[in-house]
Amino acid sequence: MSVQYLFANWKMYLDFDESCILAARIREHVTLGDTTITVFPTDIALKEIDRILEGSDIHLGAQNAAWVPRGAYTGAVSPQILKDIGVEYILLGHSERRHIFGEDDTDIRKKIDACLEVGVTPVVCIGETKQEKEEGKREYRLKKQIMKICENLPLTRDNELIIAYEPVWAIGTGDACLPADADNVLTFIQTEIQSYTDKAVPLLYGGSVTPENVLSYVSLQTVQGVLVGSASTGYESFVGLVDALKQGS
Ligand code: PGA
Repeated sequence: MSVQYLFANWKMYLDFDESCILAARIREHVTLGDTTITVFPTDIALKEIDRILEGSDIHLGAQNAAWVPRGAYTGAVSPQILKDIGVEYILLGHSERRHIFGEDDTDIRKKIDACLEVGVTPVVCIGETKQEKEEGKREYRLKKQIMKICENLPLTRDNELIIAYEPVWAIGTGDACLPADADNVLTFIQTEIQSYTDKAVPLLYGGSVTPENVLSYVSLQTVQGVLVGSASTGYESFVGLVDALKQGS
């Protein structure tokens, strides 16, 4: 089993000091072979955490970005500005951005293009709601989201884009998608993506991943890594995730 990515989405759980302290502890004590560990802290901690992580194997990510490079866009931060302070990955289309802040597939696509233009890797989240799942519309929803992401996307190399399958009903609920179910859905996602590009697009699973269940996802052939929210925001639990992954490798 080889896990390519352990991505830690700290959302707005941690303030500046808490984010820096956790990043410093992880830097000091955590290693995980060839796995790319990336922390996604609050924007205000990015620059300081970049300094904390300097010279380590831990990477830096942002939780969102604008689609414009610069100008009169109050409250916005562009991929270039994020890249300038050390950001390598940007989460886009997270369910909380879609459902709380009203971002739609068109907004998300513009952000993906903006990331690719400046050479930051977009990590794009897709997933269906509980209602869509119950009404049998899961594949329809994912197909639409993938089309918007991938159609005419100018990918020039492998791993330039990462897609995370995060069923909305599994995020922050403790109701993780069963691994066999996730495997089926990820196989569907993989086939859909392959109809648009021959470049490798790594797939992640996210939604209530914990130290206890993480191995069951990364053992799947379809999964190259995990996107973890709340279980990545405490040191013990972060180390628990890393230890579990070590056991499986
Ligand atoms: P969770 O969040 O691990 O707390 O469910 C995952 C995510 O939102 O990326």
